[in-house]
Amino acid sequence: MHKVLIIGSGGREHALAWTLSRSPKVSHVFVAPGNGGTAAMARVTNVALTELEDLAEFAARELIYLTVVGPEAPLAAGIVDVFESRGLRVFGPTKACAQLESSKDYAKAFMQRHGIPTAAYQTFTDASLAHAYIDAQGAPIVIKADGLAAGKGVVVATSLEQAHQAVDSMLGDASLGAAGARVVIEQCLVGEEASFIVMADGLNSLPLASSQDHKRLSDGDQGPNTGGMGAYSPAPVVSPVMHERIMREVIEPAIAGMRADGLPYTGFLYAGVMIGPGEDATRPIGVLEFNCRMGDPETQPILMRLQSDLLQALDAALDGQLDGHELQWDARTALGVVMASAGYPASARSGDAISGSVNNDDTAGAADVVVFHAGTALDNGVLRTAGGRVLCVTAMGESVEAARTLAYERVAQITFDGAQYRRDIAWRAMAPVRS
Ligand code: AMP
Ligand code: GLY
Repeated sequence: MHKVLIIGSGGREHALAWTLSRSPKVSHVFVAPGNGGTAAMARVTNVALTELEDLAEFAARELIYLTVVGPEAPLAAGIVDVFESRGLRVFGPTKACAQLESSKDYAKAFMQRHGIPTAAYQTFTDASLAHAYIDAQGAPIVIKADGLAAGKGVVVATSLEQAHQAVDSMLGDASLGAAGARVVIEQCLVGEEASFIVMADGLNSLPLASSQDHKRLSDGDQGPNTGGMGAYSPAPVVSPVMHERIMREVIEPAIAGMRADGLPYTGFLYAGVMIGPGEDATRPIGVLEFNCRMGDPETQPILMRLQSDLLQALDAALDGQLDGHELQWDARTALGVVMASAGYPASARSGDAISGSVNNDDTAGAADVVVFHAGTALDNGVLRTAGGRVLCVTAMGESVEAARTLAYERVAQITFDGAQYRRDIAWRAMAPVRS
């Protein structure tokens, strides 16, 4: 029996803890720092640590068998390098490999070098050259801060004015600090997005179930971009043909490319793919971004469908033995609705008391509804909001409709002041004519 450590505090990490605590080989799960949901779980303990050295010290002292890193920030800061230098078993990319997410310019040059389909682009540090490029290209056009910007670094500009403003704000006013001191300006792609996540062992890759996120705050894909307001799995746009194409045209060249560049990639790798119009065999696909981790909220519905033992897959990945490894998935649809706090995403309010049906019975067998916590904290026994995305209410059903009905039934039983959520999660899967 093993003790495992999960780094992070979001809904993705609650879902990882929920999954790993069910593994027959896991005796205890630690989550650093965790949230109000992981605090309430059986066989799970929150650990109030965030510094990389402190985390490594904890893992060594507690004889942690394996550590899984949830978010990008510690990966980009080199947590895997710190753990590995101490001989600790950790699943995630090194700091150098995490550049696939931490630098958009790195990712774009990488894709170009290795023939991975992506939008045409140029990178700028000089504002006047950026403005001239925008004028030459025209709108719509996409402006991206090079560095990590917690979902705020991308502006899909529908007018030249918006595009120029984005450049002024990032390069001129340094609104995103160092992250925006360099910008990638790229062609605007059209189509339907899908999240395609794999586990990689440096050489081989093992795909997880497909999913689709909802980045905009409001119904009908309106409003500002967020970290993600809901997700479901599987995503029908990733047909068997599309799955095979994404593996062959994106994932395999990415894993081979990192290896060829002298940076064999181990960890979760997430490709955000734009799938253009047409027949599956020929419709254009383009990578919008690579993330060096699982998605949030995609992880919640994905892991709810996972029937295989995740620890076994993590072990295979760390031992370089993903080749031939298979994962079993529940054939049903899982669908997660994010409930966010007042003011999100511009400025999230914390401290609102949460009432209603937010606890899960972790001792029961398979549940059809699980409330994954993100920005929640227990304050003297009262559960309060503590961040932008507060909960991800996730349900499984025989159809998208059934999963959606079940998820929203539970959402209706949960209240906190200023709660925001979308009413149309999975609308693309339910549209009478798919775009
Ligand atoms: P990213 O963080 O790069 O995934 O960008 C956030 C969101 O902006 C994506 O999920 C897309 O909805 C949108 N986006 C990014 N790049 C493009 C592009 N080249 N064309 C159209 N939309 C894009
Ligand atoms: N939900 C998108 C992401 O995790 O980046």
